Amino acid sequence: KAKGKTHWVCSNCGNAEGQWWGICRSCNTAGTMTEFHEEKSTGASKVTGFAVSENVVGSWLPQQAGEVRPLRLRDVNRGFNQQDWRIPLYGPFGNEVSRVLGGGLVPGSLILVGGDPGVGKSTLLLQIAAIITERRDRGEAGPVVYVSGEESLEQIGNRADRLGIESEKLFLYSSTDIEDILEKIQHLSPQAIVLDSIQTVHLNGVIGSAGGVTQVKECTAALLRFAKKTNIPIILIGHVTKSGEIAGPRLLEHIVDVVLYMEGEKCSSYRLLRPVKNRFGSTDELGVFEMSQSGLQVVSNASEIFLSEQHLDSEVLAGLAVAVIMDGSRTFLIEVQALCISGSTVMRHVNGIQASRADMIISVLMKQAGLRLQENAVFLNVVSGLTLTETAGDLAVAAAICSSFMEFPIPNDIAFIGEIGLGGELRAVPRMEKRVHTVAKLGYRMCIVPAAAKKILGNEGFEKMEIIGCRNIKELVRETC
Ligand code: TYD
Ligand code: MG
Repeated sequence: KAKGKTHWVCSNCGNAEGQWWGICRSCNTAGTMTEFHEEKSTGASKVTGFAVSENVVGSWLPQQAGEVRPLRLRDVNRGFNQQDWRIPLYGPFGNEVSRVLGGGLVPGSLILVGGDPGVGKSTLLLQIAAIITERRDRGEAGPVVYVSGEESLEQIGNRADRLGIESEKLFLYSSTDIEDILEKIQHLSPQAIVLDSIQTVHLNGVIGSAGGVTQVKECTAALLRFAKKTNIPIILIGHVTKSGEIAGPRLLEHIVDVVLYMEGEKCSSYRLLRPVKNRFGSTDELGVFEMSQSGLQVVSNASEIFLSEQHLDSEVLAGLAVAVIMDGSRTFLIEVQALCISGSTVMRHVNGIQASRADMIISVLMKQAGLRLQENAVFLNVVSGLTLTETAGDLAVAAAICSSFMEFPIPNDIAFIGEIGLGGELRAVPRMEKRVHTVAKLGYRMCIVPAAAKKILGNEGFEKMEIIGCRNIKELVRETC
């Protein structure tokens, strides 16, 4: 029998109650409460998005219409302690995660961590779960529950062993049924929940199998309501999928509060944690970790992780130059490689640099600096699979080409920052100061920048590093070789 819920709605002010009252409790008018039936739909309803056994799921829905009223801003913010607001994460690892989140975990938030299979999402989240249990700002904070629909408890236990996690307050649960999960968890009053992964869970009564578009969306929506209602933060894992069979995290980006992506190259042990959406903070932050034998660790020399190993050796080859790029609020040094071969057929191959940008720089070098690249094959490459998208790397590209062409190595303690124009003029790029400061902090001996930028930078704070300003590409060639 499809009988829906009954509400009593005041015909005068619209106030809705779960029962009949002689006098409307909101506007005090007598005899205005009229019965109102809400149709219970079959299948997914428009209002809630899904139809499951009302008594369980009903409690995670937003408050009943009768309970909620618009609140004064002043009343909302009263007694609302900013310091206490977020759940802090301790230790170097916790700090790094916390920074990416915008300063801790916001109660009631729904966070999605996406990434390719095998990148280290389960490892990251198990470590985060453990860090939350170490919360020191509250005497008796509740436990953290790590729910897996993907692995058995033994597997998670083994991983925890490997990571050296022994927290008393970390609970593991293996299930794929959302209702079951939330029901079992509620008794523990956890301070956070991790769910690995959203693609393995399902909600009874919703069409489709786990991992399908409808299931994934409805499960996320149910979790969002649960998080908002209970104020327990939930962190979801979502696999990035190549095939369309399993719904990927992109689908959920607009539902959740925070979206983080975990990135890493197959052959590198570095992992980046990048926010692409954050309702509570900036998306400019970038977390840098290294996958070690015992889990993810914070990297101390994050700016240098993209430099090749031989770069740090003392022996230097011709054709290498260091550029300084920004990713979010972080500065990275990257190595641009060039190889000029004379007498061969003229061809150009670029890897990790925009081909049109590379062509432009080569042409400017020929025309404005008189470099005879006409009879050369030019290869350009950026080390460690990165793509140079900023014009800030122009100077390094030009310097690398010069260096290879003249077979004159550039010492490995020089960095290049700046953009090149068609007339061969050099221009400053955004956040020049931050870039130069990073180079100085890493102990570089020299930094080559556009002359205009040097004037602004001055010499303060750069006592140990020489800053050389060049006005045009000719001066750059002179300085480099
Ligand atoms: P995992 O967290 O299972 O990845 P995901 O959940 O994203 O699929 O970890 C993937 C890889 O990380 C796996 O190949 C093993 C490696 N790993 C380490 O190198 N060190 C460690 O301490 C752990 C736990 C895993
Ligand atoms: Mg996993």
